[in-house]
Amino acid sequence: MWRPWPLLVELTCMANMKEIARMAGVSLGTVSHVLNRSAPVREPLRRRVEEAVQAVGYQPSALARGLRRDKTNMIGMVIPDVTNPFFPAVVRGAEDTAFANGYRLVLCNTDNDHSKELVHLNELRTYLPSGLIVIPSDFSDLTRQAESYQKSGAAVVCVDRLPRRWHGDSVTAANEQGAYAAIRHLIQLGHRRIAAIAGPLHLTNSEQRLCGFRRAMAEAGLSVAPEYLQESSFDLAGGRSRAMLLLRMLPRPTAIFGGNDMIAMGVLQAIHELGLRCPEDVSVMGFDDLDFAALINPPLASVLQPGYQLGATAARILLDRVHGDDGPARHIVLPTELRIRESIAPPREVEARAGETRRNGTAARRRKTSIRKPRKKK
Ligand code: RIB
Repeated sequence: MWRPWPLLVELTCMANMKEIARMAGVSLGTVSHVLNRSAPVREPLRRRVEEAVQAVGYQPSALARGLRRDKTNMIGMVIPDVTNPFFPAVVRGAEDTAFANGYRLVLCNTDNDHSKELVHLNELRTYLPSGLIVIPSDFSDLTRQAESYQKSGAAVVCVDRLPRRWHGDSVTAANEQGAYAAIRHLIQLGHRRIAAIAGPLHLTNSEQRLCGFRRAMAEAGLSVAPEYLQESSFDLAGGRSRAMLLLRMLPRPTAIFGGNDMIAMGVLQAIHELGLRCPEDVSVMGFDDLDFAALINPPLASVLQPGYQLGATAARILLDRVHGDDGPARHIVLPTELRIRESIAPPREVEARAGETRRNGTAARRRKTSIRKPRKKK
């Protein structure tokens, strides 16, 4: 399809370059070589061109260059919540990789609002990005939009949570295994009444974490009361309000697994507000292992997912696509790791039993010792 604007932008650039060539007294080709660093130019000529560039105030246009090849060196990144401390690490990983390879990242925040997400996607398209890295918003179903990007020749990689029916490149964490390991650990500590506050359950990662929870409980032969399963937004307020419900239940759960660290922080807040103690009354486990997890009181046990690596891997795959990799879709799953900290401990009953056993053992040992003690001769 013939489009007038590439021609217009190009004509404007050309006019500027001609002016520079005239002022510097060199050919148009020399100006182009200096601006694009496409061939060595003798120092005095280069200096004259640069002075003329300054005088004209010429600004090379990435868009004009992009129009010529239908793509710019820009990568769009769409994230759901810029205030959630997990996402900056993902962005940083993507940005470092993109920047090191000569690409620039443009960040869009959706506030977990799918309509805002669509506005970003439609607008980003007009900048002719080389590709798109997307962490879908809470209610997102962007498979159609993402596929249409791909049709226009832009690469798309989905990260962390996936749109339904997405068959393209993806990078996620081992959500199911991470949650499974966390719950197994709580069970090994002696917890039987374990509740979960999952993130939004239509999100693939929340669903997988809940599957890990259920698998660990089922394997240990433990049933889960339906009211012990709560769903929340991935934030502190959601975690706090669901924890208020759980902590008032009888019997109270002895441990609560938060679908992410922000939810777990909300649980800690509710415990504090109700005058309970963590881990003495309730153990709390999170997911993400944000930087602050180790710094709060008590330090939060969590499942580490490698945010930086998620972003860096997504950018790597995207750049491979831009440079011609047309192999089958890649689905990378990065490992998670359990981080045990002071927010978890054996439940009170188990502690009490252990204490009793310890006391009985000591008393028995004392009795034995006193029997063995030789009587003093009078
Ligand atoms: O904290 C943000 C959460 O939402 C993370 O657990 C991440 O996996 C995301 O989807």
